[in-house]
Amino acid sequence: MLNERTDRISSRAYQYVCEVLASEFRGSKSGGMMKRLERAFAERFGVGYAISFINGTATLHAALAAAGVGPGDEVIVPPLTMASTSFAVLHAGAVPVFADIDPDTWTLSPASVAERITERTKAIMPVAIYGLSPDMDPIMALAETHGLFVLEDDAECFLGTYKGRLVGTLGHAASFSFQSSKHATSGEGGMVITNDPDLANRVRRFGSLGYAAVGAGEGKISKEDIQDPGYARHVEIGWNYRMPELCAAVALEQVERLDELVAWRQESARLYAEALEGCDWLTPQAVPEGYGHAYWTFVARLNRDDITWHDFRRKFLEFGGEPFYGAWRLTHLEPAFRNRRFADYQWQEFAPGLCPVAEATQPRLMQFTTNAYDRAEMERQAEALAKTVAYFS
Ligand SMILES: Cc1ncc(COP(=O)(O)O)c(C=O)c1O
Repeated sequence: MLNERTDRISSRAYQYVCEVLASEFRGSKSGGMMKRLERAFAERFGVGYAISFINGTATLHAALAAAGVGPGDEVIVPPLTMASTSFAVLHAGAVPVFADIDPDTWTLSPASVAERITERTKAIMPVAIYGLSPDMDPIMALAETHGLFVLEDDAECFLGTYKGRLVGTLGHAASFSFQSSKHATSGEGGMVITNDPDLANRVRRFGSLGYAAVGAGEGKISKEDIQDPGYARHVEIGWNYRMPELCAAVALEQVERLDELVAWRQESARLYAEALEGCDWLTPQAVPEGYGHAYWTFVARLNRDDITWHDFRRKFLEFGGEPFYGAWRLTHLEPAFRNRRFADYQWQEFAPGLCPVAEATQPRLMQFTTNAYDRAEMERQAEALAKTVAYFS
């Protein structure tokens, strides 16, 4: 049972931050928070390796690069996601290929993925959009048949479940974000998890300037290694994507409280769903049997042509509702992508018509925030939704 309210960031985070400051970032003392965070994260997800990053875009880039994705490759992505999913593919030098979404769950459609696979396809990036897992069994089956790498983009899905398994443990690797709107936050931050030790080593090296001394379980370079003029430090070319210790301190407190933080979001979603009972023109994201939705945000589709998205949102705000987040345009229709060519071999035109289900769905999605860690506030939000529905009914 949840209390009446909770602090999003508790006093324990302040204590951890003070521990970092007391270390004065000196080499021999710092690095501890990152290790503690990674251990706590790996334990909570029951995986072999957790590697921390500066954000949940760097994670995707590093995981793709570590899996050998590069120029000449295609990576299948959904268009209904935050643009980082596709940007990371471009950062890795590959080209995103957009597959359509399911009309009810709005997650990547396995049937559409199957249609988009070519001899250049190297990876698939299913996204647990708004906190709901895609249908991973058929996606993993396709990956197995075609020898593809599957990177889950779970930036929005902490502790979601799929057929009894934790989201993040379904693909070959998974990426999470600690950006400020997420279930667990350190302002900015990210994490890659995997059970594959070789992949974990490469992910770490890629995000840590290719240092020879770092690896899956070790993110820090020792003084002994460095204080040798002949020491070969860099065995690979890498980016400097490490999470700062101060962020790790806050993220550690959040991971220790992860179950509680997710439960608050799920409770918010339950109240919104209650507010929509009996309304046949605002349909929440469908949660198939056996799935546990983490509700980064509660999303419903507006199935009326006489009210616009903006009309509905304006009224919701007038009734005391909070502004939405996550109402991104479909990635292939963003100016950065639309009608652009990223490589000679790019075979998709990034233009309307590429993903008809997503294009019919996205302009109608209303995203209600679930980040009120206060029962009275979440009730006010649900009431604002109920009033808006009543107004337009
Ligand atoms: C689905 C998805 N992928 C990737 C990201 C990128 O994470 P970050 O902002 O930490 O880079 C986000 C959110 O910000 C996201 O929602």
